[in-house]
Amino acid sequence: MGRRRAAIVGAGHTPFGVLPDTPRQLIRRAVDAAFASVDRGLERSAVQEAYLGTLGFSGWQLGNASAVVAEEAGIPGAAVSRVENACSSSGYALRQAALAIMSGERDAVLVVGLEKMNDTTSSRRRYWLGVSGDTEWERLSGLTFAGVYGLMAARYLHDYRVPPEALAEVAVKNHAHGALNPNAQFQKPVTRERVLSAPRVAAPLGLLDCCPVSDGAAALLLVNEEAARRYTDSPVVIAGLGAGSDTLALQERASLTSLRATRTAAKEAFDRAGFGRPEVSFLEVHDCFTIAELLAIEDLGFAPPGDAGRLTMEGATRLGGRLPVNPDGGLKAKGHPIGATGASQAYEAFVQLRGNAGARQVPHAERALAHNVGGSGASATVTLFSVP
Ligand code: COA
Repeated sequence: MGRRRAAIVGAGHTPFGVLPDTPRQLIRRAVDAAFASVDRGLERSAVQEAYLGTLGFSGWQLGNASAVVAEEAGIPGAAVSRVENACSSSGYALRQAALAIMSGERDAVLVVGLEKMNDTTSSRRRYWLGVSGDTEWERLSGLTFAGVYGLMAARYLHDYRVPPEALAEVAVKNHAHGALNPNAQFQKPVTRERVLSAPRVAAPLGLLDCCPVSDGAAALLLVNEEAARRYTDSPVVIAGLGAGSDTLALQERASLTSLRATRTAAKEAFDRAGFGRPEVSFLEVHDCFTIAELLAIEDLGFAPPGDAGRLTMEGATRLGGRLPVNPDGGLKAKGHPIGATGASQAYEAFVQLRGNAGARQVPHAERALAHNVGGSGASATVTLFSVP
């Protein structure tokens, strides 16, 4: 990273789930909470720019949606942009905001992640989700995202001789964590037997291997690190930023069990951070399906290929384990409002590194990694956070 770094001084989060709120109301709730969380206050007029991460569900304000953020956030006239990279939309929005501050062009930037998924029919929702995958080879032949990740899971279990219990254990762990998170869509534990006997959605993945359909928003306030102490005694610094990409279609990739976008993003983030993997206190990874969490742990460099299942079965990735993964419940239990997920992961890093995560607090958390993936892995971001 260059000399100037960005720091988060405020963060807000709505509950995730099936919510009555409109997209405008969700934006307002998350942004108001972010401003209210700034210890010594941040004037709305100080915010010069905003980035909105959203897929634009059910056609809600497909064009120029970012203008709504300026209205609802009370920052009229500020520069606003929408960032759309499917499920990694707000991971990329956060990256744009941090780059704007690191470049010296901006001093205070707002990031909003938003999705409203439950106000439409399931067939229309399938269409909206499908548009983020490959069109010719996947969507038009009827392959859903559960289907794509089902193919990855089948190949992973086969190649590495991993038992299906390892996938189930990801769901058990994340539901246990979600039960500690008041914003989570599912706040109830599940047993391994229930996960394994749930109806299959795309074999080997069953209902409880899938993230749910969620509404929600999250917001972040970024300033430059030198100015951060004006607003709070405990800012959270963005210590490393990485991003990567891959082909849209699965069939074009060298491997079904590793995401190049994640590996590229992780390398870039760690190359710039000034600390290494052993110093990371916990991971927020993109577990849209249970298999995705195992692939993430490996592609991020925290386990050799084929070994993340063993780590998970041993309890290493649970709260209290050696490397907690998804202490907020992950996409699996917290929910996955597509464009809100990257900002939500950064929210978790913010509250954890300030020691404010309550029952799900990771003890002595000082450095965190957030990993946000678009679709089946065509885009990804990795962001590293630290206490100054
Ligand atoms: N995990 C756990 N429970 C779930 C669930 C999930 N992912 N999805 C739904 N449920 C529960 C509901 O709460 C409901 O419980 P209840 O009967 O106690 O109220 C029950 O299962 C049925 O819910 P329903 O909404 O009718 O399920 P569905 O069959 O329409 O949808 C999925 C289930 C898995 C198909 C849907 O959640 C889905 O498509 N998930 C993936 C979304 C996605 O692809 N996102 C992008 C990722 S890249």
